[in-house]
Amino acid sequence: MNALDQAGNYRLGNRDVCRLGYGAMQLAGPGVFGPPKDRAAAVAVLRAAVESGVNHIDTSDFYGPHITNQIIREALHPYRDGLVIVTKVGARRGADASWLPALSPAELTQAVHDNLRHLGLDVLEVVNLRSMLGIHGPVEGSLEEPLSALAELQQRGLIRHIGLSNVTLRQVEDGRRICDIACVQNHYNLAHRSDDALIDRLARDGIAYAPFFPLGGFTPLQSTALSAVAAELGATAMQVALAWLLQRSPNIVLIPGTSSVEHLRQNLSAARLKLPSQALATLDTVAAAAASH
Ligand SMILES: NC(=O)c1ccc[n+]([C@@H]2O[C@H](COP(=O)([O-])OP(=O)(O)OC[C@H]3O[C@@H](n4cnc5c(N)ncnc54)[C@H](OP(=O)(O)O)[C@@H]3O)[C@@H](O)[C@H]2O)c1
Repeated sequence: MNALDQAGNYRLGNRDVCRLGYGAMQLAGPGVFGPPKDRAAAVAVLRAAVESGVNHIDTSDFYGPHITNQIIREALHPYRDGLVIVTKVGARRGADASWLPALSPAELTQAVHDNLRHLGLDVLEVVNLRSMLGIHGPVEGSLEEPLSALAELQQRGLIRHIGLSNVTLRQVEDGRRICDIACVQNHYNLAHRSDDALIDRLARDGIAYAPFFPLGGFTPLQSTALSAVAAELGATAMQVALAWLLQRSPNIVLIPGTSSVEHLRQNLSAARLKLPSQALATLDTVAAAAASH
């Protein structure tokens, strides 16, 4: 049995994916802009992920922009059967590396074609609509126009499944009246738990939840309680953070990012780590401590 199998699978669209996948954002240059320092190293990370059994990779054409997708194509095309590449649309990059909304039907259509071309695909398996009503977190407001535009591209056969990113429960519910929603991708981790109720609700409805920044993002998680649990279990803090997410809810599918093969292997080993109830109780204090700072 592949070590990764211990993480289990979850339905994403109409494919079962391993609950421990890979997020490719770290493969672009600093600030997710421009090329990486070492392109061969980026290619090696992707190949190591797939060879280890990863069958879910998260990306976007606005990483780089274009560069992350081009590296995925260079490393992995022709793609293995069963590999699910999830991309996202809704933003574009300014010349100064800023993140700008790109939610008009014309921009979304262009983004879908750009993703198809740069990834070398005829159809995108899952496309997340990234709400840019707020850049740093979900903001209420209608997503009807951009979601309807994506649904039309789905009907034209360019997209198999649609997901939502950086959204509220209300936006998910409204979205489900327009098209099926295969997954939600929001900011969530041990220290940032605003989506606790949303995750439970999506689990009841069989919708996958992919937390972004599962390790804390650009500033990886640091906490005394987390370090203490990791030391007790003979694991790294990052492995504990991932194992905690796997145990948090069965609909959570992980896309931790790294630019290093060594970190990738450490992260994938979290599939084997089972956290005892005492450790879970200690880890439950991390979010409260983070909120009080
Ligand atoms: N929908 C959205 O708005 C959105 C936003 C952000 C991200 N995402 C997606 O979510 C994915 C994951 O987020 P992320 O990559 O930003 O953050 P992350 O997975 O929380 O953390 C990545 C950071 O942790 C470090 N790291 C990874 N493994 C490590 C290890 N074993 N030991 C020590 N440090 C480690 C990485 O540095 P090294 O490279 O040095 O390992 C990097 O700095 C992205 O790849 C992207 O696909 C989506």
